[in-house]
Amino acid sequence: MSKMKYSRNVMCEVMRVVPPQQGTFKEFLTDFTYAGYTIPKGWKVYWTVNTTNKNSKYFRDPEKFDSSRYKDGEAPAPYTYVPFGGGRRLCPRKEYAWLVVLTFIHNVVKKYKWEVLSPKENVLGDMVPMPEKGVPIHLHPY
Ligand code: HEM
Repeated sequence: MSKMKYSRNVMCEVMRVVPPQQGTFKEFLTDFTYAGYTIPKGWKVYWTVNTTNKNSKYFRDPEKFDSSRYKDGEAPAPYTYVPFGGGRRLCPRKEYAWLVVLTFIHNVVKKYKWEVLSPKENVLGDMVPMPEKGVPIHLHPY
């Protein structure tokens, strides 16, 4: 996996631009003030990945898909790249998710040429992004 630098960079960018998980709820254990807003103890807030990952303060030209952002030595600063969350509740299975994703990519890319049948397919916004038609493809073995 550590040798799959290019694939990893591409997937990093996919997860930045279209995060598989949009965010989660957090409950405040104490009264909390942030940016002029006071949130009372016991309230819930929903934090979103996009508000950080599409913030031009952290990612230049944030709407642009550019996997070269993660080239060696150009890793995002801590807590600016958050598809897996951050801090104490960081996704505990993120390395397993990477293993599954990179193994899938390795097999598909090495064994098949693939043709996307609906290149302009819509991605529906929900708790998780869902391609409208399920991304039909034709696989042609090499
Ligand atoms: C691409 C795949 C995945 C993404 C993008 C993802 C993303 C996330 C995010 C954003 C959170 C919330 C972090 C927070 O609240 O601060 C989370 C939490 C969690 N994830 Fe994942 N996850 C993925 C795969 C998985 C897998 C494969 C598992 C289990 C096999 C898993 C198990 C969990 C659990 C148990 C939590 C709750 C952790 C806690 O509240 O302490 N995730 N994940």
